[in-house]
Amino acid sequence: MPQRTVYLETFGCQMNELDSELVAGSLRALGYAFTTDASAADVVLYNTCSVREQAEQKVWSRLGELKARKAAHPELVVGVLGCLAERDGVDLIKRMPVVDVMCGPGELDKLPTLLDNAVRTRESIIAGGTIEPDGRPRIRSASQVALQGNTSRRSATLAAAEDSLELLDLSRSVSPTDHGGTAYVRITRGCNKFCTYCVVPFTRGAEIHRPPDHIIDECKRLADAGVIEVTLLGQTVNHYRFEHGAAVTTNGITQPQKGRAFTGAHRADPLRGAGVTTFADLLARIHDEVPAIKRLRFVTSYPRDFGDDVLQVIRDHPRICRYLHVPAQSGSDRMLGVMNRGYEAAEYLDFLDRARAFLDQPELGRPLMISGDFIVGFPSETDEDFRATVALVERARYKNAFIFKYSPRPGTVAYDRMTDDVPEETKRRRNNELLAVQARISDEIAREQVGRTFDIMIEGVSKQQKKRAGASHGQIRKSNAVMLTVGGKDPTHDDASSNGACGDGCSHVHGAPVDTSHISHTDGPSNEPVQLSGRTDGDLIVFIDAPAHDATALIGRILPVRVDRAERLALHASFV
Ligand code: 5AD
Ligand code: SF4
Repeated sequence: MPQRTVYLETFGCQMNELDSELVAGSLRALGYAFTTDASAADVVLYNTCSVREQAEQKVWSRLGELKARKAAHPELVVGVLGCLAERDGVDLIKRMPVVDVMCGPGELDKLPTLLDNAVRTRESIIAGGTIEPDGRPRIRSASQVALQGNTSRRSATLAAAEDSLELLDLSRSVSPTDHGGTAYVRITRGCNKFCTYCVVPFTRGAEIHRPPDHIIDECKRLADAGVIEVTLLGQTVNHYRFEHGAAVTTNGITQPQKGRAFTGAHRADPLRGAGVTTFADLLARIHDEVPAIKRLRFVTSYPRDFGDDVLQVIRDHPRICRYLHVPAQSGSDRMLGVMNRGYEAAEYLDFLDRARAFLDQPELGRPLMISGDFIVGFPSETDEDFRATVALVERARYKNAFIFKYSPRPGTVAYDRMTDDVPEETKRRRNNELLAVQARISDEIAREQVGRTFDIMIEGVSKQQKKRAGASHGQIRKSNAVMLTVGGKDPTHDDASSNGACGDGCSHVHGAPVDTSHISHTDGPSNEPVQLSGRTDGDLIVFIDAPAHDATALIGRILPVRVDRAERLALHASFV
């Protein structure tokens, strides 16, 4: 088969970015090449998100754009991967016949085979001349394939024993040049929390935890390839827990394990050290066993699952970052109840106080930075509920917060049983008001950093620099398109309104090839400074000018800087 070229575009969360990276690796191993130009590709893949409707709309419009091309080139193979594929399955193929292959997030290990079949089938259809007069292949529908997991959530033990997805993570190939010093590592999949608004427990299935040795091996392999910053991923990452006595081994491979609950809140797990690896243990092990990882992060945390043991481990292990992303979703106890969040506002704030007591050390250049997520306009939210959310945001002092207008998602409890009764105009007003409150706080926090010295991880050329170099928005998007998020905001939330974090540095995507094309020799004299962007360990975005001839060499390194000024929520610094 001649070499096929793939265009792969990713929407949504970091979990999706990692999935895309792994899929791209396995396709590369089979001889597929990748392009950032969709119009030049033989295979177009969209890795989708269905957490909010807006994310879904983007995929629909991309698919719509492909219709004409597919009519002219029926051999083009189009695939939809990820959460939308899981949720809408065969309905999606019916609604959008341009799609040949669909693959839910739980079946991605089978994608190469599906794709190979689709590509061959299309070639033989074309070769066999079975094309309708309108250019469409005659047996089109027979060649369409959809792979979903069982959305009724398989028995978790069985699912764990069968979880061949682990092989996808285990087979990860890391080349020393394509990561920019940073990488994601998955530690848990799925979610058992069932917040009433959320599709994730349905699209990603039951929570399972990877064996700690697999995670450590992966970190070591990444470190050997030059990665110095690892972000551990899980929907409720701090719920990680692996019981060794209960581990299942198939064909010599220890399988991931279903979530075996321990809800001790502040208390340390009684089985800690006795055959259980807790989240605290895992952090400590990675820190101690893979010293080449200079920064260890984790997202996203669930507020109730934070024991003091985790906070202690973060405090006592210097390479673990002082950054927590802990969504509150609302400040109203009534809303938290209908959202099924499992905590009250006071408990949440109490957790923030505990975390700050353990971890906030600005005098050592290590202030604790916290970010949150909120949903405004959830069914039945009153002005009083919303005022409670504003009060919580004032108290919490997030470095930034992602604020979403409630979006009803088919399949969720809120969609089935609650009326989306907050008018759009009210959602918009609350969204804007909360954004304004958070913008003021983010600005205050940014100003507090002026004069402080931080180590920053240089992630790449700033977006402003790219603009200066004459890159159009479209070009920037293309440069991110191989396996990455679209949208200039935080990679987690491509349709969020956010203040603080969605500055320039957010266009950098972890695990992506570093794009240095904007340090161009055509930019002007080569000694003209280039603006780079980096992050503190607390995840504050910092801009820094570097001489053009040094800039490329600085990317992917951790260097000390002093913050000179805070401007429009962004920090500007110089090397010390
Ligand atoms: N509507 C709006 N926002 C949502 N989120 C999840 N589901 C929905 C929904 N149906 C937000 C939550 C979550 C983030 C990833 O997306 O704030 O933390
Ligand atoms: Fe969704 Fe709640 Fe699970 Fe987060 S904790 S993924 S919001 S169900």
